[in-house]
Amino acid sequence: MNMIPVFKPFIEQNEINKVAEALNMGWLGMGSYVRDFEEKIKDYLQAKNRYPVAVSTGHAALHLSLMLAKVGPGDEVITPAFNNIADFQAILATGARPVFCDINNDTLCIDLDKAEELVSTKTKAIIVMDYDCILCDHDRVEKFAKKYNIRVIHDAAHSFGSKYKGKMVGSFSDICMFSFDPVKTITCIDGGLIMVKSQEEVNALHEMRLIGMTQPSTTMYNNQRAWTYDVKRLGFRYHMSNPHAAIGLSQLSKMEKISKARRTICRYYNEKLKEIEIITTPKTNFEDITPFLYYIRVPRNMRDDLRKYLYNVGIDTGIHWQPGHFFTLFKNAKKGDLTVTNKIADEILSLPLHSNMTIETQDIIINAIASFSHLEVAQV
Ligand SMILES: Cc1ncc(COP(=O)(O)O)c(C=O)c1O
Repeated sequence: MNMIPVFKPFIEQNEINKVAEALNMGWLGMGSYVRDFEEKIKDYLQAKNRYPVAVSTGHAALHLSLMLAKVGPGDEVITPAFNNIADFQAILATGARPVFCDINNDTLCIDLDKAEELVSTKTKAIIVMDYDCILCDHDRVEKFAKKYNIRVIHDAAHSFGSKYKGKMVGSFSDICMFSFDPVKTITCIDGGLIMVKSQEEVNALHEMRLIGMTQPSTTMYNNQRAWTYDVKRLGFRYHMSNPHAAIGLSQLSKMEKISKARRTICRYYNEKLKEIEIITTPKTNFEDITPFLYYIRVPRNMRDDLRKYLYNVGIDTGIHWQPGHFFTLFKNAKKGDLTVTNKIADEILSLPLHSNMTIETQDIIINAIASFSHLEVAQV
């Protein structure tokens, strides 16, 4: 049986041609394609006052963002417990500790009222993550950060291509990061990007992503390497390479098509699934949103049975996510009241969403969920 996967990369001939071009050029490392990718992202995000730095993964982007915010040993970073492991591990990698905060029941983004209770003298930064199709209240996040004099890392791995109050995500935050991993809305196979506010921060990140080497951008971005350089700070091998940037560039050129297709698919899911008694759909019409996931909520005693049922008829589903404090490594982490997180963790289910998904495939999924629901309701 051919499974319908949760994610499916949208790779066409233009990506294959562009990678071939990058491979044939003879400079596989960090180079001119990376510069082009960064420039195109800046244009796409209409980010006049923000500057892009491309890196190897979203995780690397998080680690460097935290380092840029001068997060280090002994510090605390508030993060929603309902977040990707990459965020928690990036905090640990700086020597700091994550402090797990609850989420809002409607937006699934960090609950800032509860975050207030977690601020301490050790708090250095807050990570806010847009959980897919409903964005955080970023105006309030900014006020929160000012009040406590802390930096904001905006994890926008889910919200590339979405707008907040008319502004592209990535064009307004303190520090914003994206992921372009294999399953994201657009992919570089693996890739990440950080948007920062000043050239000084760009310069610091340029060194940090190239194991600390002070490579002038004239060589770095022109497929050359300077053989004499200084090393002034801690750095990692986190740069993006030309073939990855080449894929990103061709994906980006189709962004409008990708965004529209994903929005249409999510609206259709919302319209059909809201008829099904046991399903709660996201409370949005996806205006100005480029969805990465399509998630539903299912009563906790039915979620795993629905997953199994769908799997047995050839439909894969995902769970985004198990919260941080569920993991052995983080079970003793500092945390607040996580009532909503604990509830959502048992209810959330991601359905297949592909940029080129057909309505026939969607109908198969919707009908299968309806059949499961009839069986469940009949049993009650
Ligand atoms: C919210 C969030 N942040 C960060 C990451 C990490 O990105 P990457 O997989 O590119 O390292 C992910 C990856 O799925 C994510 O979903």
